[in-house]
Amino acid sequence: MSPGKVYLVGAGPGHPELLTIKAAELIKMADVLVYDRLIQEEVLGLAKPSVERIYMGKPLSRHDSRQDEIHHVLLEKAREGKLVVRLKGGDPFLFGRGGEEAEFLADHGIPFEVIPGVTSALSAPLSAGIPVTHRNNASCLAIVTGHEARDEETRLDWAALARMDTLVFLMSVKNAGRVADRLVANGKAPETPAAMIQMAFWHGERVLLSTLGRLAADVEREGIRPPATLVVGEVVRLGERFRNLPRDLKRREDGSSRFQPAPAPDQLLRLATAGMGSQAFGLALENGYFDRLEEASPGGALALEWGLDPQAAAELLECLVALGLLERTPEGYRNLEMASRYLRSESDQSLRATLLVYARQSGSWEDLARYLREGGKGHVHGGEGEASQEACDALARFSAPAVADRLDLGSCGSVLHVGWGGEAYRRTIAERWPEIRFAHRNPFAGADHFPRTFPPWDGEGAHHGAVLLSGVLKCCNRGEVQRLLEKASKALGEGGLLAIHDAFLPVNVLPPPEVVLGGLARHVHQGGCRTWSVDRLRDSLLALGFESVEAHALPAATVLVTARRSAPPLAEGPVS
Ligand SMILES: C[S@@+](CC[C@H](N)C(=O)[O-])C[C@H]1O[C@@H](n2cnc3c(N)ncnc32)[C@H](O)[C@@H]1O
Repeated sequence: MSPGKVYLVGAGPGHPELLTIKAAELIKMADVLVYDRLIQEEVLGLAKPSVERIYMGKPLSRHDSRQDEIHHVLLEKAREGKLVVRLKGGDPFLFGRGGEEAEFLADHGIPFEVIPGVTSALSAPLSAGIPVTHRNNASCLAIVTGHEARDEETRLDWAALARMDTLVFLMSVKNAGRVADRLVANGKAPETPAAMIQMAFWHGERVLLSTLGRLAADVEREGIRPPATLVVGEVVRLGERFRNLPRDLKRREDGSSRFQPAPAPDQLLRLATAGMGSQAFGLALENGYFDRLEEASPGGALALEWGLDPQAAAELLECLVALGLLERTPEGYRNLEMASRYLRSESDQSLRATLLVYARQSGSWEDLARYLREGGKGHVHGGEGEASQEACDALARFSAPAVADRLDLGSCGSVLHVGWGGEAYRRTIAERWPEIRFAHRNPFAGADHFPRTFPPWDGEGAHHGAVLLSGVLKCCNRGEVQRLLEKASKALGEGGLLAIHDAFLPVNVLPPPEVVLGGLARHVHQGGCRTWSVDRLRDSLLALGFESVEAHALPAATVLVTARRSAPPLAEGPVS
């Protein structure tokens, strides 16, 4: 097989809108994405569902390199004939070891190309309003690694650096004090302004303003952590004028834990749901589902043919889509090439028998099979206790700014929030739209079971400009969801916005695999409620007179559905 091609692609400082058009196109086309720690979920979310994602980041606490492993993966995937996108933070050739990867690929005869990216060396200062050069006081700039500040064998000429107008140090948080000492020892004034910009263009961006003399103490006191970029020079003062201007590339207040030396939430989820992935895979192999999916078939027809609960079967099929084995087309589900070639018993290249042995070793799929036969019939949410309530609140806190980013509430007048994370939503909305009145109600707080009778919502009767339901639908059975939607509809004025943020089983959005696997795992193990899919929700909203129903995947591994109320609301009906 002739080798595929590897693209070493700069992903910019993190914000998806700072990707180049070429980078976005390549991500969408990639068969394999090999990526590091500093890549945001929204950027990865551009890829097609069947993309193979390979995470090669290392925890920030570890300095040993995984470079050999990275080289090996690039080589192996290219030799499989794949289009491989190696995504690197910022620009691939600035302190990113992109040069080594290019050399390695050239040595092994693999076709490759390098796509530049917006480097953090320039964009992190910019994000703090600091222009790195200026006609009046900065005509030159040096970009320097902070790693060598403690190194006696350093190749850096500190006397020359101290004469530069502007200095930008990457990877310098740990050595900030030593960097400052070296510069002062070589002639820079201790009063020279310095700024440390942490997580530029990410959730929780922070800017520390200091001077060389105070830098070490300030970084320590403020708990600045990598990734952060240090700027030294008179230009830092210029930033003050521009720092707080409103801007499209917004910063968000939360999510700072993304950079703690711990697994990112999506990795945790992936670890937690890996078992479910292999169970779904094993069960589908055992029952020969891939044999029957050469032609596209609708999920409902397949469920009937296979004697399965339709909702549970739809979840399994979505799970196989998320695993990159099936694709969902307007005509229904059908094998992707790998499933046709290796997983069908009739295929010449079938590895079915071998794979089944491996899948069986990784766990039993009895629970999943039972769930597929019976679905969640007769189950009503039984309450998941305090831990679950805390988890719902934590998820809402994490997501509130991302939800607000996607909603334009500017002309709403008043917002009724129902569900988890009331305080987080109140704060986020008040910061962005101080004039909006905010009412909140959580029918689940402290309840073990969903309340059979709905207490009246605050402000009910009044017509709100927007109703925001967060994290409540996944706790409801079908009748309860219907009733909540009717209440929301009644609380909205004509043209009012309904926004539903929840852990749906997503359809027509591109969820990361762990979301789909996690949803199915929750159902199988808790035997619980029948979570609403986006499709089913869309039908209910249209029947209630809503229009413009849209679904968006959010970085916190959840889905936001929005709709506008057009027709007058229906009268409230009994819970079915
Ligand atoms: C290994 S270097 C890679 C630089 C990357 N190739 C580039 O062009 O931005 C990583 C360093 O980049 C800086 N950095 C990366 N992302 C950043 C961000 N969002 N905010 C501030 N600094 C960042 C930090 O100094 C971090 O230690």
